[in-house]
Amino acid sequence: MTPIESKLPQVGTTIFTLMSQLAEQHRAVNLSQGFPDFLPPPELLELVERAMRGRFHQYALMPGSIALRAAIAEKLRSLYSVQADPVAEITVTSGATEAIFDAIQAVVRRDDEVIVFDPCYDSYEPSITLAGGRAVHLPLTHPDFRIDWDRLRSALNARTRLVIVNSPHNPSGALLSRADLDRLAELLRPYDCYLLSDEVYEHVVFDGARHATALAQPELAERCFAVFSFGKTYHATGWKLGYCVAPPALSAELRRVHQYVTFASTSPLQQALAEFMTAHPEHHLELPAFYQERRDYFTALLAVTKFRPLPAAGTYFQLADYSAISTLPDVDFARWLTIEHGVATIPVSVFYREAPDARLVRFCFAKENATLEAAAQRLRRL
Ligand SMILES: Cc1ncc(COP(=O)(O)O)c(C=O)c1O
Repeated sequence: MTPIESKLPQVGTTIFTLMSQLAEQHRAVNLSQGFPDFLPPPELLELVERAMRGRFHQYALMPGSIALRAAIAEKLRSLYSVQADPVAEITVTSGATEAIFDAIQAVVRRDDEVIVFDPCYDSYEPSITLAGGRAVHLPLTHPDFRIDWDRLRSALNARTRLVIVNSPHNPSGALLSRADLDRLAELLRPYDCYLLSDEVYEHVVFDGARHATALAQPELAERCFAVFSFGKTYHATGWKLGYCVAPPALSAELRRVHQYVTFASTSPLQQALAEFMTAHPEHHLELPAFYQERRDYFTALLAVTKFRPLPAAGTYFQLADYSAISTLPDVDFARWLTIEHGVATIPVSVFYREAPDARLVRFCFAKENATLEAAAQRLRRL
């Protein structure tokens, strides 16, 4: 056998795995990977237990349990005034990651261009590469992480097959407004291209802001795969459940892929989530305040360190400038901080193809106050 030629030669172990491993090795407080250290709501856990003891052990329907899709449709209606047909337009997937992969495989063909905005989430590019497409990286403006509309206008062309946006944005916390979505619709209008709108942090928005979903912008909705995550909303990232909302023709193509990636997602969890969403809409309604309290708690802790937090409008991530502490590049700084001072973070340059000259790390504050306080105690010594 000749040595295998990798289809993803650029892909190694991700920085998230590396930093978590390093955190464990050095007994560091792990504020790197984006997962909560608190439990899902107790009533949801009871419903999971009940579903496990019931008759929900065989394959769910390929596009998702009908009860769960109905609950999602009701939430979209009540929260965003969006009408989505649960039968033809909503597909339950194994995490938003699977929905992203399926949507990209469904529409991107060999040599198609896909526009992504850096810093961007790490799963987009490998999915584009496997589909035979080419990622075109456009930087968001620095330091406020907004779309540079002139750059987008110049990058769009007849080969552009897909544009990927993410709001609330990981890692910066920046939000796209309704006016931004209108602008995007106007720029995409002349092109036969699709939109993938990654909205997994839809409920983590602060200071009275409301999440603007691409599904509520009529022109965008016609060309859009909107992707959501139960993991982010119910403090259960390990359950790997998410969903995609797209017009019938796009959903049909996405399902052709989904059918052969996972066929269907975990049945008892879908049942429990369907019941919980219907009985407890207050959970997601209270999430902005819940996370805002943590953001405020964490930024108050950072205020008495040499880190300078950047404004964060959403997500459970906080960027912080460390230039008052070190001149090391961010990857070296993050390693040093973990090994020597016991706090693990994510260096922001890993989210870029060409990173700007900045000294930024990302903290995840979806943690118990005691965890955040333990990290702050160590950060105060710097
Ligand atoms: C921007 C973004 N999109 C998608 C995902 C993946 O979501 P899931 O865990 O539901 O696959 C994440 C998870 O960190 C994320 O930050």
